[in-house]
Amino acid sequence: MKSLLKENSKDKMVEDTVFKVVAEAMNAVKIHGDKVVNATLGSLSDEDGNLVTMKSVWDEYKNIDAKELASYSASFRGEADFIEAVEKWVFQGVKKDFLTGIVATPGGSGAVSTTFKNYLGRGETVLLPEIGWGPYWLMAKEFGFETEEYSLFDGDGFNMQSFMTKCEAIMEKQGRLLAVINDPCHNPTGYSLTSEEWNDLISFMDKLSKKGPVVLLDDIAYMDFSNNRETISKAMEELKGRNENFLVVFAFSISKTLTAYGLRVGAQVAVSSSQQVIDDFIRANEISARAVWSNIPKGGMKLFARLILDKDKREALTNERNIYIELLKDRSDIFMKEAEDVGLPVYPYKEGFFVTLKVEDSKRQKEIQKKLKEKLIYTILVNKGIRVAVCSLPKRKIKGLAGRIKEAF
Ligand SMILES: Cc1ncc(COP(=O)(O)O)c(C=O)c1O
Repeated sequence: MKSLLKENSKDKMVEDTVFKVVAEAMNAVKIHGDKVVNATLGSLSDEDGNLVTMKSVWDEYKNIDAKELASYSASFRGEADFIEAVEKWVFQGVKKDFLTGIVATPGGSGAVSTTFKNYLGRGETVLLPEIGWGPYWLMAKEFGFETEEYSLFDGDGFNMQSFMTKCEAIMEKQGRLLAVINDPCHNPTGYSLTSEEWNDLISFMDKLSKKGPVVLLDDIAYMDFSNNRETISKAMEELKGRNENFLVVFAFSISKTLTAYGLRVGAQVAVSSSQQVIDDFIRANEISARAVWSNIPKGGMKLFARLILDKDKREALTNERNIYIELLKDRSDIFMKEAEDVGLPVYPYKEGFFVTLKVEDSKRQKEIQKKLKEKLIYTILVNKGIRVAVCSLPKRKIKGLAGRIKEAF
């Protein structure tokens, strides 16, 4: 039968490799139980394999009045106390010598997607990391963009040369640039930029913005799982006094920050030196919200505001999350140490939910993934690598895992 879809929706197709492996892993657990190493799941689990739900978060959620949960938000931009809390949280410890604008979104996904929509047009090119979160490409397609990718690494550091070359070429071609980074705790490699890399990147983009508008979109979905929050805070301070043509948008999400993925709350957080750039940002994104999802779940916004704007609750949350940051560190330390011992090639991991094995050839990736499945180890293929979700594996399953994986290489 003829498709009823409009022309550019006809070829919407996701190669469902992720869901397929996740389903296979679940099925294997039913048959083989605890012998299975399910390294496919991207959410944080405790040492018993249960999804982490933080007491400081959900106890507070229960205190929110049903009328607050049931009612519409007062604004398409987001509740005033939520915006205040996001500002306070994202810029904690930052001397803010710049202007900011915040618009609530459904998760980090909404923040990334609305920024895409308002800063590039159909047929224009967005710059993405060559290894990255899959929905960036889906969103680009949804808006009719072309994509270009920069190489992520040069040895063990960020590939600044590749990033700069691609930015310049795009600026040359279309007179404006939208570039995406995912920092700190890049998904899926776990890399975080150093202060020097951040400074170089900001100075470069600031300079480039003399040729045309430059938007740097930093996806900070995993920021609160960084061991080194000061680096990103210092980078934010570097945004002071930049060219008016240079806009930075941070895509914030409570999904990881509160491990509250299902509440669907996030925000676009803009930084600029120009009041007009901020006013335009708020106006366009607020109207996009009205035109697509209307307003954001009030309960999730209220929850975040209550947790962040109250000192004791904020501390309780921070203390509880610190336990999991430590846990992630313990898990990744075991994996990385053993990987080094057995000579397993891994991208330069620093922190975060995932470690990625370096396998550039896609045929070889599939062969390794298949061999791993035979050992009941389930992983996800990403561009140029194989992702191991240390966020969902207990330490006892991580011990010895690098060696077992190496046997499949
Ligand atoms: C890199 C990255 N960015 C953004 C998100 C957005 O998540 P959400 O829409 O739940 O906030 C995710 C979720 O997995 C992610 O991995």
